Amino acid sequence: MQQATLRQLKVFEAVARHRSFTRAAEELYLTQPTVSMQMKQLAKTAGTPLFELIGKRLYLTEAGSELYSTCKQIFDLLERFEMKVSDLQGMKQGRLRLAVITTAKYVAPRLLGVFCQRYPGIDVSLEVTNHEGLLERIVENADDLYILSRPPMHLDIKCQPFLENPLVVMAPSNHPLAKQAEVSLEALVEEPFIMREPGSATREAVERLFAEHDLTVKVRMSLGSNEAIKQAIAGGLGLSVLSRHTLALMGATTEITELNVQHFPIPLQWNVVYPANRQLSTIAETFLAFLLDEGKALAANAAGRTISNGPQAPLV
Ligand code: PGA
Repeated sequence: MQQATLRQLKVFEAVARHRSFTRAAEELYLTQPTVSMQMKQLAKTAGTPLFELIGKRLYLTEAGSELYSTCKQIFDLLERFEMKVSDLQGMKQGRLRLAVITTAKYVAPRLLGVFCQRYPGIDVSLEVTNHEGLLERIVENADDLYILSRPPMHLDIKCQPFLENPLVVMAPSNHPLAKQAEVSLEALVEEPFIMREPGSATREAVERLFAEHDLTVKVRMSLGSNEAIKQAIAGGLGLSVLSRHTLALMGATTEITELNVQHFPIPLQWNVVYPANRQLSTIAETFLAFLLDEGKALAANAAGRTISNGPQAPLV
């Protein structure tokens, strides 16, 4: 493999990531025959096939997957080297890869905005996915830092709490329960409920709370997006439990309100997490310190109010 060129490895990494010659060619501004040729040569150098085509899908062979993880390490090291050099030159330059849980997408871009203004040389990639998707990314070592509520204790990670993420019950503002000073948990069981999708940490927290009280909600609908759930609540399809952050940045509409329900809010916290064996890049370290020092104040500021415990009516 010492004969392989860095260029070939770059092409290989893109093909392996996209599982497609065409998409890799598009990304790298190459023609597809050039990509195929480079991959043929690389397989010859490796002495073994790196891809196999089954039906119309491209798969990595075992050697291909090994090479893919080697490439990720090589490019990661090179990127770190570049960041170190610009750090030595007194500039913060390079890339920050951040992956956040769906509820944090309301806050993360605001924080990144301030951070990028302070360090204009930094490029950011931001992935948004649910709890299950985030765990997969942690295992794949796909990003620098992750923000999520339920830290994966079965993985060897470093985890620092960073901001409250209270889960609250939302209803249409004209719902009869919205007039009650306090709603019992039992009363919710009578109402049609909208749940997040399986694999969501919000859903898991809600199910756990009801199970602890031997109650089962009537799930009318399961939706994979906080935004879609807000629309469904406003449309009168049912009640739901969402992070209070999902409403924090909405404009002044009056369609949805938070109910004051016993045992709510469910007091989750967002944590910044990364694999314990991952050496953070200078930029990731800078962002981590920024989140821990200023994240809370900036998030509250962006929301125009403090995201704290206790109902806040009217919310939207
Ligand atoms: P979810 O996670 O998007 O999987 O519901 C929420 C969270 O971890 O805060």
